[in-house]
Amino acid sequence: MFGLSQACLCRARPLRPAKAVEPLELLLLAESSRPLTVNIRTAAFLGEEHMRFKNLFFDLWYRFGKPPWSIDQAQPDLIAAVEKGEVRGPTVLDVGCGDGNNAIYLAGRGFNVTGFDFSAKAISIAKQKASEEKADVTFFTLDALKIGDIDKRFDTVIDFGLFHNLSGDKRKQYVRALSNVCVRKGQFLMLCVADQAGEYPVYPNRYPPTTSQDDIRAYFSEGWKIEWIRLGVAKSSEKFDDYSAWLTSMTFTK
Ligand SMILES: C[S@@+](CC[C@H](N)C(=O)[O-])C[C@H]1O[C@@H](n2cnc3c(N)ncnc32)[C@H](O)[C@@H]1O
Repeated sequence: MFGLSQACLCRARPLRPAKAVEPLELLLLAESSRPLTVNIRTAAFLGEEHMRFKNLFFDLWYRFGKPPWSIDQAQPDLIAAVEKGEVRGPTVLDVGCGDGNNAIYLAGRGFNVTGFDFSAKAISIAKQKASEEKADVTFFTLDALKIGDIDKRFDTVIDFGLFHNLSGDKRKQYVRALSNVCVRKGQFLMLCVADQAGEYPVYPNRYPPTTSQDDIRAYFSEGWKIEWIRLGVAKSSEKFDDYSAWLTSMTFTK
């Protein structure tokens, strides 16, 4: 079932100090039918380089647990930005929309919203929630690195928690592809875990890596004008801590 991925998982050793290992472990059924237990953070670490692992990692979170970022409401920094009139719209693309909280919130505020994620389970939960809340959102499954395949342009693209999951080369690929879905002077609004404490502490773990303002400015140095960057929060559900995050708004200049 997992092919190469299975082989890697079988050989996986804890790659982090024992104290940092998360309690959540997942039972996977390998091709041999031998049950295989994998620490979810080990899978995430491997996934830094292997998109199939990464997809598996996220999908398993949605299938067997409640991911920390699934807070049953939109992220507070998104709500604040909408209330300040900082989200331009009216068309919005939510990249890495997860189980749909931000997209559904935006639809409720009158935006015309499309959301996608590479986790099929996340998208099925998002569709279910949207139907229960009678929210008109188009959800579909896609890898963000193929965002350029989307045959439509949006006034605003939001990314709450996806960019920081990508490693260097993939970040560059993603940023290049983003330009295919933004209208000219379109907005990109991004939240990623910050390297600096504000009201909340710095995310202490290695994955996803924290991001500096310099990183953000470097990745978006061509074709983008950064309007503002401010410290906010990556809000988590009750059992997890909240961490400092950069909220960045930029404009596509081409
Ligand atoms: C930290 S979660 C945030 C989810 C959502 N934006 C929210 O705020 O609730 C990151 C999301 O990005 C998705 N993701 C990560 N890499 C992706 C990729 N390459 N393509 C599409 N989705 C991706 C994950 O499946 C996950 O749902």
